[in-house]
Amino acid sequence: MTVAASAEPVTWDDGLQGFVVSGFDEAAQVLRGPGWSSDPRALGGDVFAAVPPGVLLFMDPPDHTRLRRLLSPAFTPRALERFRPRVAAVVETVLDGLFAEADEADLMAEAAYLIPLALIAELLDVGTEGAQVFRAETPGLVRMLEVTPTAEDIERGARASNELMLFLLPLLTERRRRPGDDFVSALLRMPELEPEEVMATCVLLLAAGHETTANLIGNGALALMRDRSQVPALHAGPSRAVEELLRAETPVKLAGRAALTDHDLGGTHVPAGSRVVIRVDAANRDPRHWPDPGRLDLARTPQPHLAFGAGHHYCLGAALARLEATEALPRLFARFPNLTTTDPQPHWRPSSTFHGLAALHVRP
Ligand code: HEM
Repeated sequence: MTVAASAEPVTWDDGLQGFVVSGFDEAAQVLRGPGWSSDPRALGGDVFAAVPPGVLLFMDPPDHTRLRRLLSPAFTPRALERFRPRVAAVVETVLDGLFAEADEADLMAEAAYLIPLALIAELLDVGTEGAQVFRAETPGLVRMLEVTPTAEDIERGARASNELMLFLLPLLTERRRRPGDDFVSALLRMPELEPEEVMATCVLLLAAGHETTANLIGNGALALMRDRSQVPALHAGPSRAVEELLRAETPVKLAGRAALTDHDLGGTHVPAGSRVVIRVDAANRDPRHWPDPGRLDLARTPQPHLAFGAGHHYCLGAALARLEATEALPRLFARFPNLTTTDPQPHWRPSSTFHGLAALHVRP
C-alpha cells in the first residue's frame, strides 16, 4: 500500500490504521522525542515476525544506545574522510565503464548501484563475490521495509536475509580466527557485541548502505538532467547541492514508530499504542518550514532537513552517503556534461518506503 502525505501536519489513515505525520515540526518531534518505539513488535501482529534480533534500526534504548555507541566511531565524518580518495577512484572506474560498450546505459544498474555497492563491499571486505551476493539479495531484503509488507514481501525478505547470513557466516568465522583491518573484524573484536548483533549489523549496513545511496545518486542525476541550469551550482558547492537534493528528492520517504505514551502532535491527540508513519519527504517540503518548497534550488542555503531522520536513530551512514554523492554527482556531470535521459517517463520503483528509480536510461 502507499501512504498519502497530507497538507495537514497530522492525519489519521484508515488503511494504515495509524497516524501519518507530514508536518516538519511534528515529524521532528516524533523522531527526536522520548516516548516512541522503533521496535515493530511494539505494534503487535505477525508482520515483523521475520525481523531478526540485534538490528539497530528496530531497537529501543537502552539496547539501542549500547550498540549505537559501539558502531558510531567508524561512521563519523572524520573517520570517513580518509575514504574520500578511494570513493573518488571507485566513481572514476564506474564512469569509465558507463558508455564503454554502448552509447546508451542504465544509470541505475551501471553506476548508481555500483558505487555504494563497491564501497560497502570494501568496508566489509567481502570481495567481488560478496558484492554480487549483496546486489542480488538487497532488493528482496528491503521489501521488509515496506509500510505494510505483504506475505510475499515478508517471504522474499526472509529468504534474502537467510541468503545473506549464509554468505556471511563462514566469513565471520574466518575473520574471528584471522582478523584483518576490515570493519567486520573490528566488530568481532568487540567483546560487548553478541555474534548475532555482528551478523545483524552487517546485514543492515548492506541494505541501508546501498539501496538508499543509489537512490540519492539516481534521483539527483535525474533532477539535474531535467534542470540543467542547476549544474553550475552542483560544481560550485557539491555539499550544499547534495543537501538540497536530499531535501527535495528524499530517498527514504518514511519512518515508522509506535507511541509508547500519549502524545500531542500539533494539536492532534495520539494515544499510547498508536502506529505512526512519519512522511519525511513531506516534512522536507512542508511550506510552513521551507520557502517555496517545491522548487529545487541547489544554491539554497542548507538548513537541517529530515532525509536522514533525526534523534537517536539518525542515519548512521549519513556521512558516507554524503561523501559518495558529493564525489559521484559532480564527477558524472563533469565527465558527461550533456548527459541526457532517453526515458520519456522515469520508471519509479513501486515502493511505499523508497523514492528511487527502477531504471534511468541515459546517453552521454
Ligand atoms: C537510519 C536514510 C544511507 C545506515 C536511517 C534513517 C533514515 C536513513 C531516514 C532513520 C530511520 C528511522 O529513524 O527509523 C538514509 C538515506 C541514505 C542513507 C536517505 C542515503 C542517501 C546510509 C548508509 C548507511 C546507512 C550509506 C551505512 C553504511 C543506516 C543505519 C541506520 C540508518 C545503520 C539505523 C540507525 C539507528 O537506528 O540508530 N537512514 N540512509 N544509511 N541508516 Fe541510513
